[in-house]
Amino acid sequence: MKITDRLVADHKSFRKLMADLDVLVDAKTDPPPSRLIRLVELLKDHIFLHAWAEDVFYYPLIRAKLPSDERVVTTVYMDHLDHEHKTVDGALDRLEADVKDPASRRFWRQSYALFASGLNAHMKKEENELFPFSERLLGAQGLEAASQELERRRKEAPAIRLHHQESTDKPHE
Ligand SMILES: [Fe+2]
Ligand SMILES: [Fe+2]
Repeated sequence: MKITDRLVADHKSFRKLMADLDVLVDAKTDPPPSRLIRLVELLKDHIFLHAWAEDVFYYPLIRAKLPSDERVVTTVYMDHLDHEHKTVDGALDRLEADVKDPASRRFWRQSYALFASGLNAHMKKEENELFPFSERLLGAQGLEAASQELERRRKEAPAIRLHHQESTDKPHE
């Protein structure tokens, strides 16, 4: 499997969690805080691992091989994507703080909208521009090797924390 296939699969899982949150956004009544908190924490953990894979493996691989005559995916472009990572992380921290604090929970729809638009735009750029570019640059084989390397070093990944439990949840391992 190519590393980009893994990353696209992660993006799908973010979209699925965001679809669940979109349902809560559209609901007429306020959602139970425990459900809201759990979805946001799941999103945060998924994104955390994804960011690790991109920041530690995938982006450096591309940066190391950027052709000097490339016009779209340049170091400036990569810096821009890195900056988007920070912006999305910041928006997600804000969202998490809002859903966890009863005093600011009423703002969660706005903080979620800000986060979601940032993440969606970022994922689109990666899927439409960066991922295809990286396949031209490194070849399918290069992307597969990166995926294997990631698998080998998975133990170094930041640990997933225990999620906020809903009463109906099965206990986590
Ligand atoms: Fe990214
Ligand atoms: Fe990504």
